[in-house]
Amino acid sequence: MSPARRYSTADHLLIGLSRALAARSPAPPQATASAAATESADARDTLAGAQRRQAADLMRVNHAGEVAAQGLYQGQALTARSDATRRHLLAAAEEEQQHLDWCAQRLRELGDQPSRLRPLWYAGSFAMGAAAGLLGDRWSLGFVAETERQVAEHLDEHLQRLPPEDKSSRRILQAMRADEQRHGHAASDLGGAPLPAPVRGLMRQLARVMKAGAARF
Ligand SMILES: [Fe+2]
Ligand SMILES: [Fe+2]
Repeated sequence: MSPARRYSTADHLLIGLSRALAARSPAPPQATASAAATESADARDTLAGAQRRQAADLMRVNHAGEVAAQGLYQGQALTARSDATRRHLLAAAEEEQQHLDWCAQRLRELGDQPSRLRPLWYAGSFAMGAAAGLLGDRWSLGFVAETERQVAEHLDEHLQRLPPEDKSSRRILQAMRADEQRHGHAASDLGGAPLPAPVRGLMRQLARVMKAGAARF
């Protein structure tokens, strides 16, 4: 039996980059606590054209958001000060990779393509994450906590806007929302500092630009 492979930070970055940018992610991993999200019993459901379009538009934005999450976490892991913080960030990035896989699969089922601007979402987020990490672990973890809080709010909004018939997408967003809240609380518990209001506002603006861009391109 070969020993379990230990990945270096550089390995994680390269794996994250290639998977985040892949147009076709692998199928979701086997059932976990979030298995509800991957149950696509009604994957080939019979959503009417307009509902399918509406769901696809939302899932395309969520897919881009998960590409950005990979960039943020990988960038922050690169510049994290302590090994404990880096390990925490990379573990969260693994769960974000599951979210990315779920969104990619659902987008395919809905017959849509992911945003063509994925390299931009990844690179911009990576740069932002690396910059947050350079400010120190306390601020970097505070950045995670605020990001995840805003993402959970965003998912609430999408859960309202999803066609009620689209149970598959709903299960995915609900499972993601639970994970994002857990990521955010964990970052606060590890010592994340509350971010100043202007920074929180700027983060909202940037997210708005990304959502609008991902919806169109
Ligand atoms: Fe996520
Ligand atoms: Fe998250």
